[in-house]
Formats: sequence, C-alpha cells, structure tokens
Amino acid sequence: MPTYVIIGASRGIGLEIYLAEFVANGGRQNVHVLQADVVDDAAMKKAAENVSGIGNGAVDVLIHNASRQPHSTVHRGFFDYPDGGELDKDFLENFKANALGVVHSVNAFLPLLRKGSAKKIVVIGTSMGHLDFTWKLRIETGVAYGASKAAADLIVTKYAVLLEDENFIVTGLLPGLVDTSATAIDAPDEETIATLGRRMEKLKKANPNFDTTPMKLEAGVHQLLEAIQSLTPADNGTLKFAGGHKF
Ligand SMILES: NC(=O)c1ccc[n+]([C@@H]2O[C@H](COP(=O)([O-])OP(=O)(O)OC[C@H]3O[C@@H](n4cnc5c(N)ncnc54)[C@H](OP(=O)(O)O)[C@@H]3O)[C@@H](O)[C@H]2O)c1
Repeated sequence: MPTYVIIGASRGIGLEIYLAEFVANGGRQNVHVLQADVVDDAAMKKAAENVSGIGNGAVDVLIHNASRQPHSTVHRGFFDYPDGGELDKDFLENFKANALGVVHSVNAFLPLLRKGSAKKIVVIGTSMGHLDFTWKLRIETGVAYGASKAAADLIVTKYAVLLEDENFIVTGLLPGLVDTSATAIDAPDEETIATLGRRMEKLKKANPNFDTTPMKLEAGVHQLLEAIQSLTPADNGTLKFAGGHKF
C-alpha cells in the first residue's frame, strides 16, 4: 500500500484528503498526525525524521497542500494595505509560508521519497498564482498570495528538473473552486465578498460556461486524488488542472 504524506491537513482540502485516506485505510491504524510549521525548516526535518520511523520509512507521494490565505488579507491589491510596512509584512509572510514552505517540505521528505516507489511530489497551486489567468481575466487583487503561489510554481519546476533523472513526477496541481468555508479560520467581510463577486463576473465573462459555484469539498478532493493517481512521468514539471477545468 502506498504511503502518502499530506502537508497542511488540519482544515479545508488537506483535512478532507486526510479523511479520505483515513476511510480508505479502514480506520486510524495506518494514519498518523504530526504537527509542524512549513516555515520552520528544522520542524519539517523533525517531522520527516518521525515519519521515517513509521513502517519502512519510505514515502510514495508527498502532497504539499499547506497555504496561508486568511480572508482578511488574501484578496488585497497593492493599495489595500494601510502602509508600506504592512504590505512588506504580508508579502514576506506569504512568501515564507507558500513558497519557501514548499522547499522545506520537499527537502525534508526527499530522502524518504527516494526510498518510495511512486516518487510523486504534488504541490497544490491556484489560478491566483497563474500568469495567464491574471492577465486574461485582468485580476489585479490577491497580490501577495498570488505572487507567493506563482513562486511556488517555479519551485515545482526547479525540483522537476533536479529530480527528472531519478524518475520523479513533480507537479503543480490546481483544485479549482472548492468550498472550504466550513473550516475556514475567518469569514469574508462585505468588501471581500464584493471583490470575490467581481472576480466571478470576470470568470463568467471569460468563459460563460464556467460554473462559479464552488465544488463541495468531498467532490473537489475526489477530483484531486484521481488526478494524483493518474499522474505519469510525462507530467513531471507540469502545472495541471484537476478535473480538466481551465481556471
Ligand atoms: N479552496 C479553494 O477554492 C482553492 C482554490 C484554489 C487553490 N486552492 C489551494 O488549495 C490548497 C488548500 O486550500 P484550502 O482552501 O483547503 O485552504 P485552508 O482551508 O485555508 O487550509 C490551509 C491549510 O494549510 C495549513 N497551513 C497554513 N499555513 C501553514 C504553515 N505555516 N505550516 C503548516 N501548515 C500550514 C493550514 O493549517 P493551520 O491553519 O493549522 O496552520 C490548513 O491546514 C491551498 O494550497 C490553496 O492555495 C484552494
């Protein structure tokens, strides 16, 4: 049975992936929960060391899902910060969690992934970090979050190049719109709801067939897991849309 490590499983999509694994394993016996902050390189290495003591210490699939995206700041544009200091702080915190966090995860778990047979590294991305989406739909908001997730996409490509000769499949995977409101740390205020509404209008304008209703969590995760299972070596270094959706 393949071993999965899911980074960022306390809420939202990550929690649902964890629950899917829990059910698939028929109970808790083969499912282990560890706590670590992706910003903290030493903590991630410690987590990997703990995982190495479980079973044969090999990991087949690493799903890096962790992401910092509180409603209170995630949709901000360049001029939505009270001052330059707050802007700098938000950009740096996003970069540390969403981009550097991927590096800490992959570096920590790579020795265990090398012992595994599937050798899949999947980093969950977002259209908000996608250049085409940003330009074609004229999305000027979500600057810090989007820039940090775009950096994560490049990091995925760098690892794909590095690990190509070892037959790894390193891929960015976009889930599409998934309703994670039930476990969100904060609720969107009126301004955020209005920003989101404008973004959905742009999506609808760009693609009148686009369904702007977020997928139910279970359906979104099912789609992600199917996409992960069907990855082949040809997908190394790609950025894929789960379920074949575009944006
Ligand atoms: N939901 C969507 O519609 C959607 C759309 C496009 C892309 N995505 C992508 O899908 C992924 C999951 O999204 P979601 O909506 O499920 O997010 P979410 O509900 O906000 O959950 C984010 C997860 O990341 C963890 N996390 C955040 N910072 C962390 C840190 N420093 N160290 C370790 N874990 C950390 C959180 O744990 P703690 O809070 O416990 O730290 C939580 O488990 C993200 O990569 C996001 O960019 C989601």
